[in-house]
Amino acid sequence: MSAYEIVHHEYDAIVVGAGGAGLRATLGLAEAGLKTANITKLFPTRSHTVAAQGGISAALGNMGRDDWRWHFYDTVKGSDWLGDQDAIQYMTREAIPAIIELEHYGVPFSRTPEGKIYQRPFGGMTTEFGKGPPAQRTCAAADRTGHAMLHTLYQQSLKCKAQFYIEYFALDLLTDDDGSIKGVLAWDMATGQLHRFRAHLVILATGGYGRAYFSATSAHTCTGDGGGMVLRAGLPLQDLEFVQFHPTGIYGSGCLITEGARGEGGYLTNKSGERFMERYAPSVKDLAPRDMVSRAMATEIREGRGVGEEADHIHLHLEHLGPEVLHQRLPGISESAKIFAGVDVTKEPIPVVPTVHYNMGGIPTLWTGEVVTKRDGNPDSVVPGLMAVGEAACVSVHGANRLGSNSLLDLVVFGRAAAIRAAELVKPDTPHKKISGASEERALARLDGFRNAKGGTPTAKIRLDMQKTMQKHCAVFRDGPTMQEGVVKLKEVINNYREDVRVSDRGMVWNSDLVETLELDNLLGQALLTIVGAENRKESRGAHARDDIKDRNDQEWMKHTLAWRTGDTEVNIDFRPVHLQPLDSEVEHIPPVARKY
Ligand code: SIN
Repeated sequence: MSAYEIVHHEYDAIVVGAGGAGLRATLGLAEAGLKTANITKLFPTRSHTVAAQGGISAALGNMGRDDWRWHFYDTVKGSDWLGDQDAIQYMTREAIPAIIELEHYGVPFSRTPEGKIYQRPFGGMTTEFGKGPPAQRTCAAADRTGHAMLHTLYQQSLKCKAQFYIEYFALDLLTDDDGSIKGVLAWDMATGQLHRFRAHLVILATGGYGRAYFSATSAHTCTGDGGGMVLRAGLPLQDLEFVQFHPTGIYGSGCLITEGARGEGGYLTNKSGERFMERYAPSVKDLAPRDMVSRAMATEIREGRGVGEEADHIHLHLEHLGPEVLHQRLPGISESAKIFAGVDVTKEPIPVVPTVHYNMGGIPTLWTGEVVTKRDGNPDSVVPGLMAVGEAACVSVHGANRLGSNSLLDLVVFGRAAAIRAAELVKPDTPHKKISGASEERALARLDGFRNAKGGTPTAKIRLDMQKTMQKHCAVFRDGPTMQEGVVKLKEVINNYREDVRVSDRGMVWNSDLVETLELDNLLGQALLTIVGAENRKESRGAHARDDIKDRNDQEWMKHTLAWRTGDTEVNIDFRPVHLQPLDSEVEHIPPVARKY
């Protein structure tokens, strides 16, 4: 493998990914005095957090009574009792100081007339432990909240002298001879040079893998690169069968129309102009959680009540809000609706359809950010040297279904928590241990194999086959036979990739053909675990809605799926218990009941 010259670096800690979670972790590490590098395939402010529109939840109570314990309750219920209650307590309690901290860092939140942070209602957020009216809990910077946060966190990280390696593609984790994580091998896409980053701690903040599906609000860059590296390191991923469909992707393009649109008073109608959510969730209606709204929309379409020539979508109405509110609160989506649907939102409804938006599953972690695996019967065995945060991780605060605006919160709370834990684990300037030559050679052999792939099928064709298979066989509604057929088809796609993928460009400088082929490798592994895990889970829970098994089964299935990729098309499945106990006595454990709104 001497064909590749490798530039060597040493850091106390490295973060892979510069979205909200990666930047918050980077900032915390640098503030703690650790020599920190951030490796990112995108310029930080182009990370997918930029697309998060509606806001970030925290029970500040600026626009009505609120309590973080109500937020805790809503999140446990929203997760359909698959969320870990210790982590949910930590997130909802820490939400309040985390938002104040963001405000002090400089995030330009929208304001109430008295100058407080503006908050809007979002789905599934209630008061009085579900018994009171909807909560106004989602803090917003108009409908560009993620954008505002990303810019602020990047500026703060630069201020703290974190070192950024921008447009570097992380290829694989590097280990020592005992399998502890000791660094990352990365490719500088601009110069073609390879870089070995040695560190005591690697924090993966690489985002989700929404692009395993055909229609997604996720950017084309959401290819689950961290999850791919973890699988190749022989570690499991958790709960991938839980894929969130956002109710309001623009019909055709899949571009996101924020849930904040319904938070501001928007509503959905079918072909008869009926506000059908009143039938499905009589108390909260259009502000039901996303899994329920998406299912209601899919049912309307399946039963012939969709709008349009092919009766295959739904209308979202904002016209009644008036130009002033639309301009002030929802300027971004007003523009998106014009560009991607040709609609003037002050006059006409937006055509929308449920669209893949978020992965509840990911790299299993504790609330401290430490990655865990199941070893020698211990389901919480910490993997030395590795942490994960953000959408790449499964903490698990979202369980089977994430509430809107809990994602931006997850990023900052757990990005910060990981940095705090890292500062306890790593002392600055500790000497580095040796990286195993074998782990680096494996990573180089993989790169070299794809770079020289001479098959007959271009990457784009194989990617489309994967995306169409996932869209058809593992969608809002699923059933056994459809998923079994999907597993067979996906395995064919993977075999075709292994045997016949063609990379035409053999260079190392801006070789987008090779980048996309490596990304597809990451996507394929996670697509496989998603559909195999979904077929295996014999119940309906949260976003996993089976037509053939309609009920939740707590007796047998209130447990996390752990899945290892043991061969190209082979998966080994095991389970981890859900953490049902909160962290401490500030809240009580919420026992499972039927989830109704
Ligand atoms: C939205 O604004 O609807 C997206 C934000 C989120 O997914 O939490």
